[in-house]
Amino acid sequence: MKAQLNWGIIGAGKIAHKFAQDMRLVPNARLHAIASSDRSRAQDFARQYGAEYAFGSYEAIVNCPHLDVVYIASTNEKHCENAISCLKRRIPVLCEKPLAMNLKEVERMLATADKYQTFFMEAMWSRFNPAFQKVLDIVEKGILGGPLSIKAEFGFFHPFDPNSRLFDIKQGGGSLVDIGVYPMTLAQSIFGKPLVINALAQMNKTTGVDDTCALQFGYANQEIALLNTSVTAALPIEAYIFCEKGYIHIPPRFHHPHFFDIYTYDGFKEPKKETIKMPYEGNGYQFEIMEVHHCLNKNLLESPTMPHTFSRDLMATLDAVREKIGLVYAGHD
Ligand SMILES: NC(=O)c1ccc[n+]([C@@H]2O[C@H](COP(=O)([O-])OP(=O)(O)OC[C@H]3O[C@@H](n4cnc5c(N)ncnc54)[C@H](OP(=O)(O)O)[C@@H]3O)[C@@H](O)[C@H]2O)c1
Repeated sequence: MKAQLNWGIIGAGKIAHKFAQDMRLVPNARLHAIASSDRSRAQDFARQYGAEYAFGSYEAIVNCPHLDVVYIASTNEKHCENAISCLKRRIPVLCEKPLAMNLKEVERMLATADKYQTFFMEAMWSRFNPAFQKVLDIVEKGILGGPLSIKAEFGFFHPFDPNSRLFDIKQGGGSLVDIGVYPMTLAQSIFGKPLVINALAQMNKTTGVDDTCALQFGYANQEIALLNTSVTAALPIEAYIFCEKGYIHIPPRFHHPHFFDIYTYDGFKEPKKETIKMPYEGNGYQFEIMEVHHCLNKNLLESPTMPHTFSRDLMATLDAVREKIGLVYAGHD
């Protein structure tokens, strides 16, 4: 594997811009090609970030010469098809969250990656954020004793727009799959797959997606996760991890923090507070890009930090919650 990797991007929306900006922070990462449903948007994007190729369709990028890896930043309902078309040509794939519309699609993607022996990873960028990793490390080492419960919220106010991908059921909209995946990722990183799943949602009366979703998960040793998401209410984007000897508070935005606070219990006195700072440059997507470089340079087919089983379990839980709240993505189930 050569040191420099030529990246292609599918979809030229907001996240593709942030990703392309952070690619500049990764040595040996080079934006080589961009594919958009709109040729002029692709051309503008290519000019802005110095990419050699600009394609006016997603299908065309898979035939691009000297392409090493593709980042899929299209809307949710296209992830499965886009990923499979790359993997069938043995092009490694980093695919945005939610990985697909349901577990059946995820299984098809994983089976294709396996059949063509090609690297595939969900772009769950939190898992590569240094402060997020440090939190997990502290919990895993039992520095605060065993973890007992988690409370995490992720919400923002977006004025209702039936055409926005957030509210459009055909594009896999709703707060659960758009941002609920972040508190769910934190909970799964600490407690694994939930055994008990309770969910309540406020469903959008016009488009049928969940505007707001409240989750209660239970685990093998009675651990509890309380998670809230919303695209119509500005919930604090913070997380608490309560352990036997203290707790961790990850301040907004907990899914890509620059610092966090550890509170250690001290009898009946106020807990002692310690702040751990781990600042970084850019938007924070460089860490997942570095992981892809690392994996491809080592000829790995999946990331040890964001393995296929993690994505499979996350989607299985999303499917179970969608069933509870009655969120159906027609044509995908
Ligand atoms: N990891 C993260 O932090 C993060 C953050 C946000 C979103 N995401 C995920 O990334 C995916 C894309 O989200 P997004 O926020 O980038 O969505 P977005 O800005 O709404 O763009 C979605 C798609 O809309 C198309 N599009 C149509 N008209 C456009 C216009 N005028 N300007 C720009 N794009 C236009 C683009 O595809 P074409 O260029 O092909 O037309 C683009 O890929 C989703 O799966 C989402 O869940 C991840």
